[in-house]
Amino acid sequence: MMNSSLIRASTFHIPPPLQCTTRDNVITSPNYAIEGRNLSYSITTKQGKSVPILQDCSITIPSGQLWMLLGPNGCGKSTLLKVLAGLLNPTHGNMYVKRPKSFVFQNPDHQVVMPTVEADVAFGLGKFNLSQDEVKSRVEKALDAVGMSDYIQRPVQTLSGGQKQRVAIAGALAETCEVLLLDELTTFLDESDQMGVIKAVKNCLGGDVTALWVTHRLEELEFADGAVYMENGRVIMQSDTKSIMAVLKERISSYSDQINL
Ligand SMILES: Nc1ncnc2c1ncn2[C@@H]1O[C@H](COP(=O)(O)OP(=O)(O)O)[C@@H](O)[C@H]1O
Ligand SMILES: [Mg+2]
Repeated sequence: MMNSSLIRASTFHIPPPLQCTTRDNVITSPNYAIEGRNLSYSITTKQGKSVPILQDCSITIPSGQLWMLLGPNGCGKSTLLKVLAGLLNPTHGNMYVKRPKSFVFQNPDHQVVMPTVEADVAFGLGKFNLSQDEVKSRVEKALDAVGMSDYIQRPVQTLSGGQKQRVAIAGALAETCEVLLLDELTTFLDESDQMGVIKAVKNCLGGDVTALWVTHRLEELEFADGAVYMENGRVIMQSDTKSIMAVLKERISSYSDQINL
């Protein structure tokens, strides 16, 4: 059940679009890295029935910031992230996400494909026709940004889960990704590994890089510039972290059986 306190005017805040131009299904907006307007996504069952997964979701993430996406299990966080990543096509709505963009999956073992850290970060650069020096320089810079420079020659199978996630993020940075869409990266990690990943992400931001981070860990909110809260396929609230935290704390007891907050 939806709690009316969640939608009171003081905390419900989705800023109006800035100067936007709409072209086909795309919005372009200068100050936001991510903008989704009234996004819906439905699946069709074998019986031909349409089942809504996302309904009328609007989300606006300023450039250069880290925002969290929170909500109970099954509320649609991963689906919204995949729509923003372009992995799923929205059924309705408009969106704009700066490019290049990269989606990083939850399971660290699904991220790394090459035998060594250096080869893995360089893997995605093959398509750019870069000189060897340029590849080397991008790999080193990206590993430095995620605090993994000392591991450049290490076999990836010797890394912890969090280190693998940082290598995956370095791969995205090496490709000069401007938007990182990060889906519950810290779920399988212990506390120190978790902190390593979130600090690495923080260190990459500002300038041209923006991150949207799906999490169920409330303590990660303190690293964020703002947060978006979802329930039942809808964006209920987008706000600063303090306001989100206050509302979530009110609600913890009412849905602690559904969400690990
Ligand atoms: N391809 C699909 N087929 C059927 N149901 C789906 C599919 N993708 C997502 N869902 C359902 O949509 C809801 C939202 O899923 P998801 O986005 O993974 O939620 P979250 O990431 O918040 O846990 C869940 O109830 C899930 O079972
Ligand atoms: Mg998910």
